[in-house]
Amino acid sequence: MDHKKLTAFPDQFLWGSASAAYQVEGAWDEDGKGLSVWDEFVRIPGKTFKGTNGDVAVDHYHRFKEDVALMAEQGLKTYRFSIAWTRIFPEGRGEVNVEGLNFYQDLVDELIKHNIEPMITLYHWDLPQTLQEEYGGWESRQIIEDFTNYAATLFEAFRGKVHYWVSLNEQNVFTSLGYMLAAHPPGVTDPKRMYAANHIANLANASVINKFHELQMPGKIGPSFAYTPNYAIDSDPKNVLAAENAEDLMAHYWMDVYLWGKYPIAAMRFLEEQGWAPTIEPGDQELLESAKPDFLGINYYQTATNAFNPLDGVGSGKMNTTGKKGSSEESGVPGMYKKVTNPFVDRTNWDWEIDPEGLRIALRRITSRYRVPVMITENGLGEYDKITAENEIHDDYRIKYLSGHVHAIKEAISDGAEVLGYCTWSFTDLLSWLNGYQKRYGFVYVDRDEDGERTMNRYKKDSFYWYQEVIKENGANS
Ligand code: BG6
Repeated sequence: MDHKKLTAFPDQFLWGSASAAYQVEGAWDEDGKGLSVWDEFVRIPGKTFKGTNGDVAVDHYHRFKEDVALMAEQGLKTYRFSIAWTRIFPEGRGEVNVEGLNFYQDLVDELIKHNIEPMITLYHWDLPQTLQEEYGGWESRQIIEDFTNYAATLFEAFRGKVHYWVSLNEQNVFTSLGYMLAAHPPGVTDPKRMYAANHIANLANASVINKFHELQMPGKIGPSFAYTPNYAIDSDPKNVLAAENAEDLMAHYWMDVYLWGKYPIAAMRFLEEQGWAPTIEPGDQELLESAKPDFLGINYYQTATNAFNPLDGVGSGKMNTTGKKGSSEESGVPGMYKKVTNPFVDRTNWDWEIDPEGLRIALRRITSRYRVPVMITENGLGEYDKITAENEIHDDYRIKYLSGHVHAIKEAISDGAEVLGYCTWSFTDLLSWLNGYQKRYGFVYVDRDEDGERTMNRYKKDSFYWYQEVIKENGANS
């Protein structure tokens, strides 16, 4: 619908930006930190672009004061970051590693000092390697207790200081890439194991949310879901059904569980037919239904367009991790859907579709289906950036991308969606898990690449100043 006048962003709207521990911190073995599954996985030849890893990343561990000063200069209202479980409990459980906890205490204090609301992600994929080796990580129900204890330790450590918490980051991504595509640790290709691990992650997520509420923590908690809204390529009913299948299997399969504690019916039927359905034990259903997130976090980057895919049709295809436009392969789930090219939108050099309107559609769908407030925990454009001789970065393409998405949020708010905040991905440039350092997302350019650590100097891109203005006027002209 067209609005005669758009609704203003709420006064308390959280304009923010985000990162994740492994992608920015570095200091991979400092101050008592234990090894995570990513510390190990990146050393397997061929797994990451040019063998890149986060040993040093963008050295945020040692430069966080400089980074927070830049955030303050930009006017950020919130900074979303993740805590490395292995800094708190080097082996996943046991005694707290005080030095590791101190790093985050210092970071949180620094943010508060600059009036920036800290937003903590409890889990952004860097599982303690010990837990992986001891009991298979997410494949064992023991992780429910260990993750809940780890979370409770942080809740108490930051009670009253941190008001926004993200439980799991992109459970749909770390389970699919970890257990179906072998692109993330533990490098497995087995759908049955994926859906089993995913069910246990659902239980752990529910348990942590309940713990937060039992402890009467001041603040809000929710999971962050990587939501890619699905479209049909045209009105051929077969293609429309394919889009429904994709939405059920790729989106409702997680969101329905977070908000309703129930798996979607058609997707579950499909998994049962394949022999991939998880085992639901007595008590599981009650636990899932008892947990009530205070918001749904969404990471929105793109939409997906779908067409009919027969039972003997295409399966998973190679992702584009090189930045060569057009190099990703066709992919789908036989019998459900296949992803096709949307002729109405442009794509990045990594073949991600650029679709600001899709964010409005995402917010509309979530609002209608779940009636829950939404925190946009990630949105951004990964592109090549060029630095000039004067150390300037003219990323007008990023400004265009982000301003389109900010406008879409405003339209969704005008439609009636409740949006608590917007975190761009990312604040500084950082390591992309599979794509190295050349796929840049930040407002702040970091002088490093996959060939060397270089100076690590920080330079403000044009988009830095653009966002500064948006925040200053609370999106009034967006
Ligand atoms: C999300 C993750 O999937 O997207 C981030 O939460 C990630 O950690 C971001 O970096 C962008 O993805 P990529 O593959 O371009 O780095």
